[in-house]
Amino acid sequence: MIPDEKVREVADRTSIVEVVSDYLPLRRAGSNYLGLCPFHSEKTPSFTVNPAKEIFHCFGCGVGGNAFSFVMRIEGLSFPESVKLLARKTGVEIEERQLTPAERKSQDEYARLLRINELAASYYRSVLLNSTEGEAAREYLVARSVGDDVSEAYGLGFAPDRWDGLAKHLKNNSVEIDDALKLGILRKSENGLRDLFRNRLIFPIKDTRGQVIAFAGRVLDAALPKYINSPESPLYHKSSVLFGLEMALQSIRTSNSAIIVEGYFDHLALYRAGVHNVVATCGTALTSTHSSLLKRHAEKVYTLFDSDSAGKKATIRSMELFLEQRLPVYVISLPAKDDPDSFLATHSRDEFIGLLDKSRPAFEYFVRSVLAETTPDSVDSKVRIIDEIVPRFRKISDSIERDLYEKEICRLLGITVHAFRKRMSGGKIVPRDIQNFNNHAPTDSIQDTLLALLLNYHEARAEIMRSSLETLFNDDYLELANFLVANLSDSDSSGNLSHLTEQITKPELKALFSRIMVSDAYLADIDWRSVLSECTKSHEKKALASIKEIAGRLAVLEPDSIEYKQLLEQADALRTRKSKL
Ligand code: GTP
Ligand code: MN
Repeated sequence: MIPDEKVREVADRTSIVEVVSDYLPLRRAGSNYLGLCPFHSEKTPSFTVNPAKEIFHCFGCGVGGNAFSFVMRIEGLSFPESVKLLARKTGVEIEERQLTPAERKSQDEYARLLRINELAASYYRSVLLNSTEGEAAREYLVARSVGDDVSEAYGLGFAPDRWDGLAKHLKNNSVEIDDALKLGILRKSENGLRDLFRNRLIFPIKDTRGQVIAFAGRVLDAALPKYINSPESPLYHKSSVLFGLEMALQSIRTSNSAIIVEGYFDHLALYRAGVHNVVATCGTALTSTHSSLLKRHAEKVYTLFDSDSAGKKATIRSMELFLEQRLPVYVISLPAKDDPDSFLATHSRDEFIGLLDKSRPAFEYFVRSVLAETTPDSVDSKVRIIDEIVPRFRKISDSIERDLYEKEICRLLGITVHAFRKRMSGGKIVPRDIQNFNNHAPTDSIQDTLLALLLNYHEARAEIMRSSLETLFNDDYLELANFLVANLSDSDSSGNLSHLTEQITKPELKALFSRIMVSDAYLADIDWRSVLSECTKSHEKKALASIKEIAGRLAVLEPDSIEYKQLLEQADALRTRKSKL
């Protein structure tokens, strides 16, 4: 743990322009510096650095933050690592906070457990490579065309057909047996210690640093269960681990995309074919932890599952998770009865790339599969189809995509957009104007100005803080405004606020914050009072407009419908807001 004062000391000595200039050329443009964004490809510079406020923002891809955020992203580091890197550059000495006894204990345990897994991995590996007991496994790999290079890349091994091969090996290496039991690779039985994996091909499962955190073991024949895995342990939480991520990271970064498969052998088959941006789940369904892990590295994902009904289900479930993350997701479809492994056994890499190029947006795949199951030939069937589609449709965050799908669904079902929306809203108005693209923060010039006033003008800040924020900011801006008000003090000036970016976790709010910070030069000589009052008025007008809109809708609805009641509540809320203005 790095003490907070140290972080601030490093920040104080750091110049964001110097830091960024180490990676890309910047040129001065007014009070900012401009360059070509290193985080997306562009021909005209939209990457903006504001030296006075120690903040950067890219108007192209929406990424922004302070010097630490920049280093984290460009070097792929964690926050503490980026602080350390900049500390070295600025000559700040960091002695880390003493660990508490409990922290020390768990850190020691972690290191001991890792060592045991490393010992086990090298044991399995040497059995596979060198022993007569490994013969059957070597033949198996030959039969499945797994060459030595691939076997080496994965660190494949073999657990011999013995009760206590690993147990003995670990004892010989003076391992604490309790630790090995904690990892689950040894188990206690009446006859002493027993190996978990026996007579199985071993896939080491690694974390992103390449450390072995668990194992999966496959039988060499058709016996069941086909796979067993290390149980959950302090090292291994299967719902947050993606198999092969450490081998895939570089390729994921260069291609900005990741392919998800279900099987260890599917991963291997793609890797062998030269497709490296691939990860697999470890025998579990995809979780939201998995999807947020991928979101940190990729801007687009492809699912590549079997074409059977289980694979279909997994595809749709993954689609939901990625839509929630606002991560575009595509489906690669294999010929029926193929899995990636069997496909690549009979087709070339180029043929696979052909499938990848033909991949369809997951939502389209989903709608088609719903329609394949139920024919929309009656009112009843149409309602059932819509009810199936609506919960997923809601998760699409991109307004353009929503519009397109809405039209497409209505066309396929032969219903009007109005009818769809009615079912869709279940009574609520769909707030279509506030949908945003991935990282892109909301843009509304009035709201921008208000935020800029809050950040830059002490008196305006005091005034804004006195009024109720709900009456000034709309939903997109309110969360950030609340955060700022809670974290700004009177003595703060816009020059020392860049550290706030470290506490903002939502990408769209981070982007909004950095954008306002870098782009408020136009506020230089303004009369903030008249700006503030303009903002207030125009907000009021907007609120009025929505009341009118609601009134219009109320007029055509049944008074005892749910939608009617909800709209009425919304109108009341707006009126209250307005009266506070
Ligand atoms: P091959 O059939 O040899 O090509 O292996 P595969 O890795 O492609 O496995 P398969 O397609 O049958 O299953 C996909 C994934 O589901 C596997 O990689 C495992 O992660 C998981 N899995 C399959 N069978 C079992 C099992 O019996 N137990 C557990 N825990 N996981 C399994
Ligand atoms: Mn398979």
